[in-house]
Amino acid sequence: MSDTSTAVARGHELQILLDEAYEKFLPHRSGEVATYIPELSKADPETFGVCLATADGRTFERGDCDRPFTIQSISKPFTYGMALEEFGPTKVFEHVGVEPSGDAFNSIELQNITNRPFNPMINSGAITVTALLHARYGNRTFEYLLDRFSVIAGRQLSFDRGVYESERRTGHRNRAIAHLLLNFGLVHEEAEAALDVYFKQCSILVTCRDLAMMAATLSNMGRHPITGRSAYTITHVKDMLSIMFTCGMYDYSGQWAYRVGVPAKSGVSGGVITVVNRQLGIGTYSPRLDPFGNSCRGTEVCVELASRLGLHVFDCLNLGSNFLESIL
Ligand code: DON
Repeated sequence: MSDTSTAVARGHELQILLDEAYEKFLPHRSGEVATYIPELSKADPETFGVCLATADGRTFERGDCDRPFTIQSISKPFTYGMALEEFGPTKVFEHVGVEPSGDAFNSIELQNITNRPFNPMINSGAITVTALLHARYGNRTFEYLLDRFSVIAGRQLSFDRGVYESERRTGHRNRAIAHLLLNFGLVHEEAEAALDVYFKQCSILVTCRDLAMMAATLSNMGRHPITGRSAYTITHVKDMLSIMFTCGMYDYSGQWAYRVGVPAKSGVSGGVITVVNRQLGIGTYSPRLDPFGNSCRGTEVCVELASRLGLHVFDCLNLGSNFLESIL
């Protein structure tokens, strides 16, 4: 955009819209903070942040956008993209499918015949993906992941040792899944070590603003909107967004596609990323979850923004990038 003053005036219009959406859902108190990882139960349930980052690097935000929390399952599409890059889609597909499971994120169920996990967004698929990366990078895997996540976010990230240890201590279900995968030869012998990396990857600390920037990197075809650094090639972004569209919100993915209509991913600590291809990324943070493990306020504020901005892929207001361009 060439005319800076116009950009500011029009940006203000988007800020007003974001403020209205935030205020509308601030009083909503439905849902429960996750407790199955003991450390997560310490989250302040009142926290609420919404940040929107455009594919050309402008941000609009409201509420708690600076508060760090652990990324949890929002890490999954990003590690999936890394595995695609490292091994190519054919090899990754031999290990993990691309079908919605219609089941909970932690379900202990594999596909018939192939015994593969249904998709890389549920725990079994994500552990398989991390194990693939671990087979290549060994004890440097987490270092590699943290570097990659930092490029995607555009700043150096770190991880929360307390949350990591809390999940490592209590993650019996994920441990069972890792051993089931080992039984079917879907992960290598060092399943426990790979699982440990998975726990650490889920404990990477981000803010709501980081989530918006990470989503904007995907919306900007894999290039960080501000640093200009390339995080993924376009082909892999397409694959990541496809899986996020069909599976990112677990057994709520159908409803999400119906109500919001763009790729997204949630995490059990209360974050959600939403990607509008070539236009923008949205990050939300509010720790109260619905029974599917998705942030209650996160879902509702995204429904509102999608409706008011015409973001849904099948919305008649969404004329490619034209609609948002007209107000930005
Ligand atoms: O594997 C787990 O249970 C967590 N580390 C991540 C789960 C998660 O975020 C599910 N999302 N809503």
